[in-house]
Amino acid sequence: MLNTATVVGAFWGDEGKGKFVDYICRDVEADVAVRFAGGSNAGHTIKHPGEEAITMRLLPTGGSRPGTLSVIGAGVVIDPDILIREIDTMKEINPDFDLVVDYRAHIVLPSHRELDTRKERARGAQIGTTRSGIGPTYADKANRVGIRIGDLTGDLDELYDKARLLATGIHHSTNIVSRDQIQQWSRKLSEFIGDGSRVVNGVIDDGGSVVFAGAQGALLDIDFGTYPFVTSTSCLPSGIGSGAGVDPRKVSEVVGVVKAYCTRIGAGDFPTEIHDEEVASIIREAGNEYEHGVHIDRPRRIGWLDPEALELSARVGNYDWLAITMLDVIGRLDEIEIPGVGIMPGWDCNIGGIDSPDELPVGLLRYLDEIERISGCRVGYISVGADTSQVIDVRGRYLW
Ligand code: IMP
Ligand code: MG
Repeated sequence: MLNTATVVGAFWGDEGKGKFVDYICRDVEADVAVRFAGGSNAGHTIKHPGEEAITMRLLPTGGSRPGTLSVIGAGVVIDPDILIREIDTMKEINPDFDLVVDYRAHIVLPSHRELDTRKERARGAQIGTTRSGIGPTYADKANRVGIRIGDLTGDLDELYDKARLLATGIHHSTNIVSRDQIQQWSRKLSEFIGDGSRVVNGVIDDGGSVVFAGAQGALLDIDFGTYPFVTSTSCLPSGIGSGAGVDPRKVSEVVGVVKAYCTRIGAGDFPTEIHDEEVASIIREAGNEYEHGVHIDRPRRIGWLDPEALELSARVGNYDWLAITMLDVIGRLDEIEIPGVGIMPGWDCNIGGIDSPDELPVGLLRYLDEIERISGCRVGYISVGADTSQVIDVRGRYLW
C-alpha cells in the first residue's frame, strides 16, 4: 500500500506535476503534502472537474484537499507576499486549509528579484530565469548571509537592519523592504512557522501518508541538469533529504512525470527542439504551452521526446512509476518522432473520456512501450486530459 510518495517532473518542468500531486494526495488520502525545493519560479496548476483551474507557485497543490496539511520544507525559498496570497486562495477552496512552513526556509526579498533581473541582463549568455529572485536567494543562503522565514518570529528591528544591509551592501540595490512590510509578513505568517522536518517525520513514523511535491524538473537540477541552464536547487527525488529533512528511504514510491513531448522555457541546449514552426505550434496551442510567470510571460520551446534526456532522468531519478501526460495533445499529429528511434503514427486525440486501459488506442500503447524501453521504468499512470479526474491508474498492468 502506497503511503508515502515523491512526485517530480522528469524533464525541464511543466510536465503536469501539480495535477499528479493533487491526484495522488486524493488517492491515498494524504495527511501531508510537502514542497521541498525551489520557490515561486514554479507554477503548479490543478483543475478539478467543473471548476476553474488554479495555479500555485509555492503551496503544494494537494493542500486544496480537506484533511491534508501543507508543509513548505527548509529547502524552499519564499516570497512572503506570494505565500500570503496563496494562503488566502487555499482558504477559499478548502476552509480546513492548514500549513507549516519550516522556519529554516529562506526569504526572497525585493532586492533579490531586482538582482535576478540585473544579472540576466549582464550575463553574456542569458539563462532565461523566471526573474523571481531564486538564484540570488540561494546564493545568499550558501554565502551564509540569507534571511530565514523563522526570523519573522524574532526581533523585527534586527531583521529590518539585516535586510537593508543585504540590499545595499551586497545586492547594490536601493530596493529595500519597508518596516511595515516586514511587520505585515510577520503578522500574517508567524502562526504557520514551525519545524517542518519534525512534523513530516512524525507523521511518517506514525504510519501516516505523505506526498512530496517536486518543483521544476530533474533536468533543471543544479548538479545533474543541463548546467548552467538550470535552477539553483536539487529537483531530484533525493532532494527531499536536504529540502524537507526527510530520509529519501522513507518514501515508498517515486513517480516521475513525463510529458509526451519535451518543452523548455529559458535558454539552453535542446537537441530535439522542433524547428518546423507549423508542427511546434500545433503542440503549443493544443497543450497551452505558455508560461504565465509572476514576472514574465513567454511561449515554451517545443521538442520531441528526448531519449537521452529520458535515460538520464530515469537513472538519477530511479522512478518506480512514470506518469505520462499530454498524450491527447501529441496524438493529434499525423506523425510523431522520437529522434534516434523512429517515426510513429499519431492516434485519435479524442481520448479524454477513456477510463480503462483496454480502450486506449494501439498507437498510444506503442508510444508508451517505447517510453518504458528507453527509460527502463514502468508506466504507472496515464493522463488523458487536464482535469484531475482524467487519470488512469495502470500500475502493475502490462499495457503492451
Ligand atoms: P530560475 O529558477 O528562475 O533561476 O530559472 C532557471 C531556469 O529554470 C530557467 O531556464 C527557467 O526558465 C527554468 N525554470 C525555473 N522554474 C521552472 C518551472 O517551474 N518550470 C519550467 N522551467 C523552470
Ligand atoms: Mg510549471
